[in-house]
Amino acid sequence: MVEISRFATHNEYPADSIEGMDLQHLLHPSTNLAQHQQQGPVVLESANGVYVTDNHGKQYLEGMAGLWCTAIGYGQEELARVAYEQMVKLNYSQLFAGRTNEPSVLLAEKLKKMAPFDAGRVFFGLSGSDANDTQIKLIWYYNNALGRPEKKKIISRKRGYHGVTIASGSLTGLPPFHAAFDLPMPGVLHTTSPHYYSEAQEGESEVAFLQRLVDDLTQMIEREGPETVAAFIAEPIMGAGGVIVPPENYYPSIQQVLDKYDIAFIDDEVICGFGRTGTPFGAQSMDIKPTTMSIAKALSSAYLPISAVLLPETMYEAFADRSGELGNFAHGFTYSGHPVCAAVALRNLELMEEQDLFTHAQKMGVILQQRLQQFVGHPIVGEVRGKGLIAALELVRRPLPRQPFAPSAGVGAYCSNACHNAGLVLRNLGDSIAICPPLIIDEQQIDELVSKLAVALDQTQEWANKQGLL
Ligand SMILES: Cc1ncc(COP(=O)(O)O)c(C=O)c1O
Repeated sequence: MVEISRFATHNEYPADSIEGMDLQHLLHPSTNLAQHQQQGPVVLESANGVYVTDNHGKQYLEGMAGLWCTAIGYGQEELARVAYEQMVKLNYSQLFAGRTNEPSVLLAEKLKKMAPFDAGRVFFGLSGSDANDTQIKLIWYYNNALGRPEKKKIISRKRGYHGVTIASGSLTGLPPFHAAFDLPMPGVLHTTSPHYYSEAQEGESEVAFLQRLVDDLTQMIEREGPETVAAFIAEPIMGAGGVIVPPENYYPSIQQVLDKYDIAFIDDEVICGFGRTGTPFGAQSMDIKPTTMSIAKALSSAYLPISAVLLPETMYEAFADRSGELGNFAHGFTYSGHPVCAAVALRNLELMEEQDLFTHAQKMGVILQQRLQQFVGHPIVGEVRGKGLIAALELVRRPLPRQPFAPSAGVGAYCSNACHNAGLVLRNLGDSIAICPPLIIDEQQIDELVSKLAVALDQTQEWANKQGLL
């Protein structure tokens, strides 16, 4: 019996078991804490390829690549060897004060070659959140350097996800990430989410919806004053907001508005980067012309934490000029350009190339999207959406016109739990069931994923029926 707090009602786990100790010691990120104290944790012990195994020996197909990140799959010994060798050779060195290390330089060079725009410089961090924080600081610093200190506001989108720090959490457009954290901070604005299925008005065509998105953005900029708006940030395909694929021609239309008002486009490729959407970067699938780019996750396939901001040489030149006046470019983290993280990320990208993984992911993406079409018309599936190896099914009470379940009914959570019981890890984002397997998944494993999901969906429908939710 674990007796530690008023929430500790779970009584199956001995206090010295990993589960019992978890309940005593950890503050879990993005977790319903009261529920967690009752349900207890899931303990993973090992992993290989696209499969993870828990501490009872049960195996699951990891259909979410962890948190959208384990792109090359689990258990790549080569990456462990690279980390070991780099640790033995030079386990740490900084990039502050002009010092450098070989893995960071080589990784920066490689990223510039891969980038879908003319990237001049690479700044390293450790997480997607810190990359997006850095983005805000860089654009502020840049506009100060250009002598336009009033041009500072950032436009993000409702349902976008860009992280959880004070600045990146403000960019995030999901209410739970703001409520009771006193966010968003001033100067961050959220425009309409580009999700036709949930946002379109009655009788509104997709073309008319797109025009409304463009008008909303234009009006927001005009209202705020274009001279005060510095940048627009977007994930090519929204991830944590429910895997939202915007309408055809969305980005070119939005970019016309941004260009008119001289507003930068921050391309958040933290999920979409490195083959996820069927092209090397989401910018290519979705026809985006980035000003700057944030990357993380698949950059190292999550073997070690690393993120980066890629920026054009023109911004770097402005910073360098400013340095003459201000001295240091005073931004950076102890672990910016950590040599072990950089070495592992570099080898991860090389392995992706050697395995021609982006081509494989593109082919598997076509197969996944085709197989998921079988759920169109399922009584509780309102929309099947996605691109490449990222997708979602939206669970609804009635598909058309869309009638969602009450959020308190917990239908999405029931379904992801049913997937878990069936040996499949998927994640519910509200009532959207997200799918984002490691890029190495093969056709047979896609079939396994889809058939386990089918079982879970039917169980969810049966349960929803019994609960009187349908
Ligand atoms: C698009 C996007 N940007 C930023 C982040 C934040 O990354 P991190 O959790 O590494 O801070 C995430 C995390 O899921 C993300 O999906």
